[in-house]
Amino acid sequence: MSSNKTIIVSNRLPLQISIKDNSIEVSPSVGGLATGMKSVHKDGNGLWIGWSGIPEEDINPSLLKKVKGRIEEAKCASVELTKQDIEDYYLGFSNRTLWPLFHYFMEYTEFETKEWEAYKAVNEKFAKVVLEHANDGDTVWVHDYQLLLLPELLKNKKPNLTIGFFLHIPFPSYEIFRTFPWRSEVLTGMLGADLIGFHTYDYERHFLSSIKRILRLDVNFNEISYHDRLIKVDSFPMGIDYDKFHNAALEHNNSETEKSDLQKRLDDHKDPKENKKLVLSIDRMDYTKGIPNRIKAFEYFLDNNPQYQEKVRLVMLAVPSRSNVPQYIKLKRETDELVGRVNGKFATVSWTPIWYFYRSLPFDNLIDLYTSADVALITPVRDGMNLVAKEYVATRTNGDGVLILSEMAGAAKEMNEAILINPNSFDDFSNALKKGLEMPLEEQQSRIKILQKRLRRYDVEKWAHEFLSALEATKELKEVIVAK
Ligand code: ADP
Ligand code: G6P
Repeated sequence: MSSNKTIIVSNRLPLQISIKDNSIEVSPSVGGLATGMKSVHKDGNGLWIGWSGIPEEDINPSLLKKVKGRIEEAKCASVELTKQDIEDYYLGFSNRTLWPLFHYFMEYTEFETKEWEAYKAVNEKFAKVVLEHANDGDTVWVHDYQLLLLPELLKNKKPNLTIGFFLHIPFPSYEIFRTFPWRSEVLTGMLGADLIGFHTYDYERHFLSSIKRILRLDVNFNEISYHDRLIKVDSFPMGIDYDKFHNAALEHNNSETEKSDLQKRLDDHKDPKENKKLVLSIDRMDYTKGIPNRIKAFEYFLDNNPQYQEKVRLVMLAVPSRSNVPQYIKLKRETDELVGRVNGKFATVSWTPIWYFYRSLPFDNLIDLYTSADVALITPVRDGMNLVAKEYVATRTNGDGVLILSEMAGAAKEMNEAILINPNSFDDFSNALKKGLEMPLEEQQSRIKILQKRLRRYDVEKWAHEFLSALEATKELKEVIVAK
């Protein structure tokens, strides 16, 4: 048996550390990367390297040992970021440049040389920690847009590592990407990997187009010739931990223990005889998720379908995210105002149209929400994948429920049985919601059944396995090249 190990590297670790009154609090990280990879990591014997979520300056020597201990217990190792790193690399270049640019929000994208320098320096920091742990022959799997330069840094220092890179967000079209001042550096950074993966074929195509047009490299189908190497590019749509969600829902539905307060409040509104239904949305509070649009479209729906007033409630969970970045502050303010306006306009003594939670909820409450929702309204304006859509489907243990999904989410490519909409069209939105609320049970069940079958088969474990097998296969490719 080989003793080589697999190291996962991402900006954020699956656990988030915070310090309160000189003691440590640990919570799970939110977001598709963390929730998806956590399921893969828990069973393996590898290591996960990333940032714990607190600035280096906030960890005093008496806490350092404890923090490290908690991180090691979770089979992780940390990269320390200073307050300045967090400002310039994380909030700055990662989330004020790359995130908006890659999600087609050009008007939000800032190009700051100082932040680019910080991005390079922090990628070097990550490389240093990875190299302390990685031996020749190990596999390193690098994740996401915060670490685009890391594959090349690792390959230059240790060519015998097998390096995979997966991007969890869209790769934009060439016309967008070409506006980016550091486009060549970022592409060559990614090319340090032996295998580069995307959620969809479209993102892969956009990437290859930039490789051809910006770096002028030879691309043969999905292989890039670069110096004396061949780099594979492919799409691997990320799945979810299907059994975890499905079994949690089964347990929830069959449990005889007392219901949570949230569940009781959800039940209060539901009444099939009176056609009273719940519509659910769950997102990180992010401008890519189309939250203001969704509220306005819901208002439009209620205006045009008055028979649904007092019948339908939108339960909207927005989990706080990147709340120091100006666009996120603006989005939060806009959302608060819109919810207030719509509730003020329609509310009656017995009905509030939108129930809005701006907080993180524990897993059991997420299951309460998923299992109670007659319709899930997942309408990002742009999203790499969107795992919430898949989690909703997995929890529909009776086969009922309707998924309304934006065409702009990567998940839409595999979820044709959902009602797919253009989230920018209020008419599309309103018609889909009406259709969803009125869909006969047999049709709901037949759609959900097909979706469940697909999600169960291609779950997150399968996804990781396919990526890692394709990465392993690149070793053979290397041997062929060396032999030539
Ligand atoms: P993104 O990666 O952009 O945040 P996704 O929909 O792909 O979007 O992933 C969101 C993930 O965050 C889902 O797996 C969802 O279950 C998880 N999540 C949402 N709310 C919470 C929460 N309160 N606590 C922990 N995880 C959450
Ligand atoms: C998305 C990104 C992840 C990121 C997550 C949460 O899923 O693809 O890389 O970790 O959002 O965002 P945060 O900035 O809090 O890590």
